[in-house]
Amino acid sequence: MRGYVGAEHEFHDAEFVRGWANRFVPTEPRIQLFDMILDQIAQPSVPNTHVVELGIGPGYMARHILERNGKISYEGVDFSEVFFEIAKETVGDLMHRVTLTTADLMDQSWPQSLTRTPGAIISTWALHDLGSQQAVADVYARCYETLPEGGVLVNGDFIKPDGTTWDYEPGRFEIRRHIELLRQAGFSDPKSLAHLEPNIESPTAAENYACLVAVR
Ligand SMILES: C[S@@+](CC[C@H](N)C(=O)[O-])C[C@H]1O[C@@H](n2cnc3c(N)ncnc32)[C@H](O)[C@@H]1O
Repeated sequence: MRGYVGAEHEFHDAEFVRGWANRFVPTEPRIQLFDMILDQIAQPSVPNTHVVELGIGPGYMARHILERNGKISYEGVDFSEVFFEIAKETVGDLMHRVTLTTADLMDQSWPQSLTRTPGAIISTWALHDLGSQQAVADVYARCYETLPEGGVLVNGDFIKPDGTTWDYEPGRFEIRRHIELLRQAGFSDPKSLAHLEPNIESPTAAENYACLVAVR
């Protein structure tokens, strides 16, 4: 079987964004991913408790993490004001621990918009939307420059699974290539902790994502 895996997005359109947030209320495997990320950022080796999420979207992971770890201060980066409005609703009474920072991840100066040096940078289902391996590589390089020693990057994003005969949009590529790009950015021992919702034969655009971890 053959097909194409990818998705069209209108991240600045209020109706589209509301629909996306309603369609993708976290399922059990996605909550598993949030927990894996939480586990990584709570390691004692992480140098500080400020966490930056790239592409915060509706704020589902932010709420999950803030509810479970009272020490973390959170900064959500996004270029979509309409997603920020939904993130505020999701995070609700915990918003006093969150800063929302407007930045375009395609603009290489985005780290200068951050309010503090983070101990961890995290992201889910976002970097593939930048549309190319080069754009993801650039984000990895900026993360390496931004994190202090011991800081951790965790990217839970869509990948192209090994063994597929399907075509994937360019932002979705193999785990081994992510690992190569993380190494090229400077991280010494990047790894993938999991391949979630694997589906080789008849994948949807919301399956096949990995949990990539790299420590500076
Ligand atoms: C598919 S949504 C995922 C949202 C959230 N991370 C989640 O897993 O539920 C992708 C998010 O990345 C943001 N995004 C996409 N391209 C971006 C860019 N160039 N700069 C900043 N944010 C971007 C979108 O606005 C959106 O919030």
